[in-house]
Amino acid sequence: MSENDLISKILNALVEPVIVVSSNRYLIAINAAAQEIFNGGAVGADLSLTLRHPSVLRAFADVMAGMDKVSVPLTLKMPLPTTFRMTATRLKNAKSAFGENNDPAVVMSFNDISDGLEAEQMRSDFVTNVSHELRSPITALSGFIETLKGAAKDDPQAQARFLDIMEAEAARMNRLIQDLMSLSKVETMERVRPTHKVELEGLIQGIVNTLEPQAMANTKTIRIANQTKNPTVLGDADQLIQVFQNLIENAIKYSRPGTEITILIAPHSGQSGIAEIVTSVADKGEGIAAVHLPRLTERFYRVDSGRSRQMGGTGLGLAIVKHILNRHRGRLAVTSEIGVGSNFSVFLPSA
Ligand SMILES: Nc1ncnc2c1ncn2[C@@H]1O[C@H](COP(=O)(O)OP(=O)(O)OP(=O)(O)O)[C@@H](O)[C@H]1O
Ligand SMILES: [Mg+2]
Repeated sequence: MSENDLISKILNALVEPVIVVSSNRYLIAINAAAQEIFNGGAVGADLSLTLRHPSVLRAFADVMAGMDKVSVPLTLKMPLPTTFRMTATRLKNAKSAFGENNDPAVVMSFNDISDGLEAEQMRSDFVTNVSHELRSPITALSGFIETLKGAAKDDPQAQARFLDIMEAEAARMNRLIQDLMSLSKVETMERVRPTHKVELEGLIQGIVNTLEPQAMANTKTIRIANQTKNPTVLGDADQLIQVFQNLIENAIKYSRPGTEITILIAPHSGQSGIAEIVTSVADKGEGIAAVHLPRLTERFYRVDSGRSRQMGGTGLGLAIVKHILNRHRGRLAVTSEIGVGSNFSVFLPSA
């Protein structure tokens, strides 16, 4: 095997995109991973034809001017924007079989750092969201405390009213903290699949019993239709209660007065024939526009945030649902039609 063949075999075995450039800026070698991200890239062509990025060309010039190593961030469009840390390293005394005037001079490697950046962005968005959610109740509480100490000091009627509002604001903060804690608890358990057998019809009947007064107060009725025999799944009962409680509460909150909420439990055949149980919660409500559907399970995502907050919602309910279902190797599917209603279906592998 020639020295050249050996080098190209080694380069192609690397998962990281790598190119080798000569001192006169010609591409000497490009490995398979680099060919994929640069749409080919011809050996023998000028580097600027493969990578028309000022930062890359500047890094090349800098190492040729004497720097040993230069690293720059580089975002490529690709199908999806991807950010790399490109490192250009100067090769010293690397005369070889590449031919005269064509000695390898600079090795450029491209390390994909998009995942790390995305995680960082999500963390920072999350902190921003939590702070934002906590700010309004805290602002309200401070405002009322101020008023109770001053203007309303001798006004028992105003005091009683303000204390009621303060109680509601404190309860909102409490709910937010409860939801954040259950989200983080669910996330840490996500890889551990539950092993207990849980019978779904009884579990759902129990939730309906507790939510019935809330539904009735809103002139809504709840009906359960079961088309299975003892629908049993491997699950964590408390977490499954959280799932269906949130879906049924949402249906109560977001449906029209005087309508029925239907819960249907049915057998289903999942991917590669796996026996599943699908439980769908259908309401006759305002429905959700298609643009919102893919984002509903994001933390703090609400179609109408003002209204959701007014109803005491934290916007974390469906995010918790998604993580619990991941842990149960299940999934959520949502269909909805504006003005008609929504259907939230939970698919769980049958035990
Ligand atoms: N059945 C439904 N009909 C219409 N919109 C819905 C329905 N269920 C959920 N949504 C929309 O999805 C959003 C997110 O729901 P999610 O349950 O995550 O939060 P929430 O109900 O606002 O608050 P909470 O955290 O208290 O559950 C809601 O704010 C609402 O806009
Ligand atoms: Mg909810």
